[in-house]
Parts: sequence; C-alpha cells; structure tokens
Amino acid sequence: MDGKFSEYMSDWLYGEDGYYSTYKNIGKSGDFYTAVSTSKFFGGTIGKHIISLVDEGFLKPNAVICEIGAHHGYFLADVIEFIYTLRPKLLESLEFVIIERFDDLQEQQRNYFKESFGDAVSLTHYKSLSELKCKNAFFIANEIFDAFSCELFYKGKTGRVDGHAVEFDVDNEWVTQKAAKYHKDRGEIAIGYEEFALEMAASCEKFEFMTFDYGEMVARPDFSLRIYSKHEVIPFFDENIKREELYAKSDITYDVTFAHVKDAYEEAGVEFVELKAQMVALIDMGILDLLEILKDNVDEKLYKQELEKAKMLIMPNFLGERFKMMRLRKFS
Ligand SMILES: C[S@@+](CC[C@H](N)C(=O)[O-])C[C@H]1O[C@@H](n2cnc3c(N)ncnc32)[C@H](O)[C@@H]1O
Repeated sequence: MDGKFSEYMSDWLYGEDGYYSTYKNIGKSGDFYTAVSTSKFFGGTIGKHIISLVDEGFLKPNAVICEIGAHHGYFLADVIEFIYTLRPKLLESLEFVIIERFDDLQEQQRNYFKESFGDAVSLTHYKSLSELKCKNAFFIANEIFDAFSCELFYKGKTGRVDGHAVEFDVDNEWVTQKAAKYHKDRGEIAIGYEEFALEMAASCEKFEFMTFDYGEMVARPDFSLRIYSKHEVIPFFDENIKREELYAKSDITYDVTFAHVKDAYEEAGVEFVELKAQMVALIDMGILDLLEILKDNVDEKLYKQELEKAKMLIMPNFLGERFKMMRLRKFS
C-alpha cells in the first residue's frame, strides 16, 4: 500500500475484507464496547427525549426516527422499546429508519427487529443519507465520527503510507489549513464530515441530530489514533506495533474534534445547540426518572441488575465522562 493515509484507513475499515465490511459481533464479546451494549437505558433515555420533542412540537408525531451506523440495531430497538412503554400510541405514527451501507448488517438488523417486535414496528433501510428525503426527523448516531477515515499531520506535513509505515513528506493545503484551524501541529484531520453534514441537511427540512463520541471540542495537539484488538488498546505509533497483523482485523479509531463536526454542520446550514458530557446529557434527558419508573415496576433483583449497568453510563471516569454528546438542529 502506497498513498494517502485516509485511503489506507478507509480500506482497513471498509475495504472488501475491512473490519466493518466483514460482519463482527461488536459488544461484550467483540473487540470494543460501546455505550449501546452497556445498558438499555442509553437508548431508553433517547426514547424519552424523542417524546419530549414531540410534546414541545419540534417533532411531528409522524416524524422519521433515523439511526446512522447502527450495527446490530440494539440502540434504535431500545429507543423503540421505551417509546412503547412510555407512549405506545406514538409507535403507530413514527417512522423508523436505519442508514446502513452493509447488506449483511442490514439483514442482522431486520432479524433483530423481527425477533423483538414481530410486525408491530416497520423498519426502512437506506445505504446512504442521500437516499432519504423527509420533512421532519430525529437523527441519532453513536460512535460514527471516530470511524470516518482521516489524514495524519505532523509539523507542517501530511502523512503518506508506505507499506504499513507513515512518512510525513506531503504538502496538502486542505489538511494544513484544517490543522491550523484546530490548533494541531500534529494529529488526525477527519475526512468526510463536510460531505456527510451536507447530505444530512439535504435529506430533511427540519431535524435534530444527536451524536455521541469520544473527543473534545478542540482536541489536544497529539496523535490519538489507536487500534482496539481483543480488548487491548494499541497506540498507532507504538514502537512495537505490528500493523500488518492488525490491518483490517481490528478496529482503528481516534478522538473526535467536535469543532470540526460543528463547523461542517454550520457550513451546511445546521445550528449547533450544545456539546456536553454524555453523563450530563443522559441525566438532563431524564435517565434517573426512567430508573425510578423501573424501580416501581419490577422486583428488586432485576432493578439492581439494570441499575448496575445504567450506572456505567453516568459514572465519572467511565463511559459517562469520557464521552460527549453533541446536538444540532436544522429549522425549515
Ligand atoms: C464504532 S462503530 C459504532 C456502531 C454502533 N453505533 C455502536 O454504537 O455500537 C462505527 C459505525 O459508524 C459507521 N460509519 C462510519 N462512517 C460512516 C458514514 N460516513 N456514514 C454512515 N455510517 C458510517 C460504520 O459503518 C460503523 O457502523
């Protein structure tokens, strides 16, 4: 392999034999562990938030609820389960959509929805946001922006891949400008945020987009690129790393620079609402009220089990604090 780092990373994750192209069991037994596989109360809290958006009139009862990059579909299914518990009538009018480019994952998601809801919920798939056209929507995504490929920048030069090594000897004006804008003398510059934001803005007249990822508004100027292999984290520039063995077989990711996401959306005409710790966001959206409802309705053993899992989402120093929630809105 010789050429742009972004193409190398894109092939690593999405090439024919790439990490995401070949179906993987992400979650407890997979290579990485996302908030989605931690507790149903993550999706549940989003379900509660969607109901409040309907109540305040931002979402119509027939709005589209769309998850992007859903893997098994657990997150959206949890959202639906809680809407069913809290406001069953809404399930008759809301429309559920998943954007998933891989056929085998679409099939997994369809099967999981069938198993969970029978014919009570219909699910529509699109391969890309550019295929969706609607008037009013709520978009949700967990850990997608850290899975966009990127270029690597180091002291004025852009990285180039030679085999599995990276040489910093390319002058790339676009990357250099982005690096200056986000105060990075070294680090990752994501590729594709601008196009993605434009596609979302063109797909729907009025929407809210809520996205969760690991990162900062402006990330520290350093490389965060890392590989997750069998629950182990290996920095990409670790001197003992065996990249050729990890290539396409493990997940590769980096910290999200949320200012870059925000700018891409603002350029597409979408307004930034807020960025906050996932823990704070879930508490603000009422995760504790949901746990209270559970406490009143199930036996103590089940309540304690669910509470332990939900705590991971709202505990400092775990998922809750390290992860951020960003919310954006487009008005028609
Ligand atoms: C780390 S996984 C997260 C999966 C799932 N949301 C979860 O939380 O377990 C990243 C996901 O983002 C998706 N993704 C990356 N870039 C994307 C893009 N441009 N459009 C749609 N999905 C994308 C990948 O296909 C993958 O499903």
